[in-house]
Amino acid sequence: MKLTSLCILYFCVLTKATSLFPSVVSEDVNLNFTGLAKKYGHPAEEHKVVTEDGYILTLFHIPGKRTTPLLLMHGTGDHAESFLLRGEKSLIITLAEANYDIWVGNLRGNKYARRHVKLNPDEDPEFWNYSFHEAGLYDLPTTIDYVLNATRKGNLKMIGHSQGTTINFVLLSSKPEYNDKIKLLIALAPVAFLNNLAPPVSTLCEVGPLIDEFSKRHGIEELPSKKIPVPKFNNLECRGGSKDHVLCIFLAVFYSTFFDAKTIEPDFFQIILGHYPGNTSRKTLVHYNQIALRKKFSSFDYGVEENFQRYGKGLPPEYDLQKVTVKTALLIGREDRLATVKDAELIRKLLPNVVLFHLMKPKMWNHIDFIWRNDMNVYLFPTILKLLEKYD
Ligand SMILES: *[C@@H]1O[C@H](CO)[C@@H](O)[C@H](O)[C@H]1NC(C)=O
Ligand SMILES: *[C@@H]1O[C@H](CO)[C@@H](O)[C@H](O)[C@H]1NC(C)=O
Ligand SMILES: *[C@@H]1O[C@H](CO)[C@@H](O)[C@H](O)[C@H]1NC(C)=O
Ligand SMILES: *[C@@H]1O[C@H](CO)[C@@H](O)[C@H](O)[C@H]1NC(C)=O
Repeated sequence: MKLTSLCILYFCVLTKATSLFPSVVSEDVNLNFTGLAKKYGHPAEEHKVVTEDGYILTLFHIPGKRTTPLLLMHGTGDHAESFLLRGEKSLIITLAEANYDIWVGNLRGNKYARRHVKLNPDEDPEFWNYSFHEAGLYDLPTTIDYVLNATRKGNLKMIGHSQGTTINFVLLSSKPEYNDKIKLLIALAPVAFLNNLAPPVSTLCEVGPLIDEFSKRHGIEELPSKKIPVPKFNNLECRGGSKDHVLCIFLAVFYSTFFDAKTIEPDFFQIILGHYPGNTSRKTLVHYNQIALRKKFSSFDYGVEENFQRYGKGLPPEYDLQKVTVKTALLIGREDRLATVKDAELIRKLLPNVVLFHLMKPKMWNHIDFIWRNDMNVYLFPTILKLLEKYD
């Protein structure tokens, strides 16, 4: 390409970036869970839950009059706030308006759960020695028991997104007595098998082991890592000539490639950047990567020798979905390249108590649309409210 055409391209993209990302941004970019909940009319209480292996998790509570408590669990690299980012049109505010007694959990490692009774997340790599297996075996049951004790109820309803569903499958297959404590599980973008990943997720998966080798060699256990400086994408100045203009261009290209301005508008994309990603462990991503490569929903693969010591056999044991007897609704997006329709069908075949298998109506519905899309109130919330009502 000639230099002049390069220059024209550069100014085109810069102009586009400036128009996409004006400098005046919503205050929601910088509000945390309690800030957002209060702003949208449903103030939250903050509770602390301590797991048996010492992690200190923040649990948010938005009290409501309905009897059965409702627990929400977020996905990988995410946290409780995600369910609130759409403000008035978010899942949490919709449920609060319908008077549900809402509890929103946080899984170890994210900013609301980056604490431990002994370990220091900044100094002890042992803090990050966990995957969704431990989140399912410790964080989830501790949170459930805390809610049931605090509300003096025998069971609750559960809404999970992505990893928020995986941890349910781990818990309910490993400690089946928890099936009695969950009246209904609404699984948004359910993840157990990753046999049918589509690009670009599948491509990322192929190179996963290489990235992991690199990370291990550099002692990177928390992701994103302080050891690799990541620019802060929130509160950017995107005017021509402003200090952030290179980042703005990168962002404009990224946004136009991966997001649909009709369902995730530029203004809202800026709010996402203020909150996502949250931090998680390298081991969590490695575990998901193993599941995709081995095509089995199984415990962590430590290699033959250590597997023998741990599991008594050379291969990691599979989680038995037939033990997940809780009433389960599976909601799936047809454009979800991570939690694909085909993999959801595999889950459906094994789960003994599927009460709904629902493909989202808009054809292009993807993984994040379950928490962030601007028309969730049209296509998603009525289904959720109907389910909650029906299995009360
Ligand atoms: C949320 O933000 C407010 C105001 O900045 C702060 O006082 C509060 O401690 C924060 N809460 C949490 C849970 O981080
Ligand atoms: C990670 O945790 C497991 C227990 O789940 C422990 O057996 C193992 O030694 C730990 N690994 C490291 C590197 O600390
Ligand atoms: C159960 O809740 C009561 C107060 O409602 C509290 O005093 C007690 O410590 C709780 N027990 C557990 C195991 O959390
Ligand atoms: C998450 O990781 C980033 C990058 O290392 C770091 O700057 C940030 O402080 C971490 N988040 C929290 C809540 O500590």
